[in-house]
Amino acid sequence: MKLLVTGGAGYVGSHTVRALLEAGHDVTVLDNLSTGHRWALQDCELMSVDLRDALHLNQQLKGRRFDGVLHFAAKSLVGESKSNPILYYQNNVTGTANLVDAMLKAGIPRLVFSSTAAIFGNPKRDLIDEKHPKAPINVYGQTKLTVENMLESVTKSAGFSATCLRYFNAAGANNAANLGEWHDPETHLIPNALRAAAGTGQPLTLFGDDYPTPDGTCVRDYVHVDDLASAHVAAIGKMRKRGVFNTHNLGNGNGYSVKEVIAACEAAVGKEIPYKVGPRREGDPATLVASSAKARKRLNWEPKHDGIAEIAESAWRWECYRRDKLVLR
Ligand SMILES: NC(=O)c1ccc[n+]([C@@H]2O[C@H](COP(=O)([O-])OP(=O)(O)OC[C@H]3O[C@@H](n4cnc5c(N)ncnc54)[C@H](O)[C@@H]3O)[C@@H](O)[C@H]2O)c1
Repeated sequence: MKLLVTGGAGYVGSHTVRALLEAGHDVTVLDNLSTGHRWALQDCELMSVDLRDALHLNQQLKGRRFDGVLHFAAKSLVGESKSNPILYYQNNVTGTANLVDAMLKAGIPRLVFSSTAAIFGNPKRDLIDEKHPKAPINVYGQTKLTVENMLESVTKSAGFSATCLRYFNAAGANNAANLGEWHDPETHLIPNALRAAAGTGQPLTLFGDDYPTPDGTCVRDYVHVDDLASAHVAAIGKMRKRGVFNTHNLGNGNGYSVKEVIAACEAAVGKEIPYKVGPRREGDPATLVASSAKARKRLNWEPKHDGIAEIAESAWRWECYRRDKLVLR
């Protein structure tokens, strides 16, 4: 298929671009490089467009034939979404409305959307499936849920199909270790723990150790970025019919506490990682673990990297490559 990938220069998008190319698809990336990187792209065209610029977007898509769009482009920092909600609504909601409008004008019939566990808010049960109530507790999650609702409305009227993939915690780096996570600021635990270990980041802070979990620290479901990539390849391949709205939760179904993740990072690096315990962060539920039974059944998707040790090791290999070869510090 001929596919457009928005946000393809970012972390999850760039891994998915590689998986799509490996699966034989023809890929064009659309990105404003606000948090993405030119170096993350190989063997594909880059359209430099900001999704908030509807005129430019329509001009760029006019006359181009794409079979589908995978839409990763978004702002995704919970803290920033609280301090600057308009930026988040403009970028994530208006940006997606512009994209879907341009797709309808250009006759592009299918979209895979990067959604998030943040749409669920505080969990009501241990494993979060697709039917779990949606009650986001931060602005970022609210913008993603607004987009899901918008997409569902559009599929009802426009002969357009949308699949929302709700990732839990994306983590790890590709096997070749030449592609991985590089956000600035970085808010994710694994890269921050590894950078603290390497002496290239801030000292590590653990946010709260008095949660109702076995060791008092937050429990999360870490899904390897290459497994997310393979879910996207499966999802776009499945979208044959028009007018269908679908959702899938993507995780491993295994929860790891912050302390367990730090221990896995210590094992990967081969040394102790010092940390201090700070107060809880607002909007952090104690436990978030996915039920991905639906994705496993309907997309025939099976995460191949299911242990935190493997995820931490791949992230450490990338961290070493990044420092030595890309000189990003
Ligand atoms: N990383 C995670 O753990 C995680 C978890 C759940 C959901 N998600 C979602 O997955 C997607 C990708 O996340 P990521 O971690 O790869 O983020 P990222 O910041 O690395 O990538 C986002 C990409 O989108 C681009 N972009 C942002 N706004 C744009 C705009 N207006 N126009 C054009 N390009 C724009 C950025 O330049 C970047 O390349 C996001 O939608 C995010 O909300 C991520």
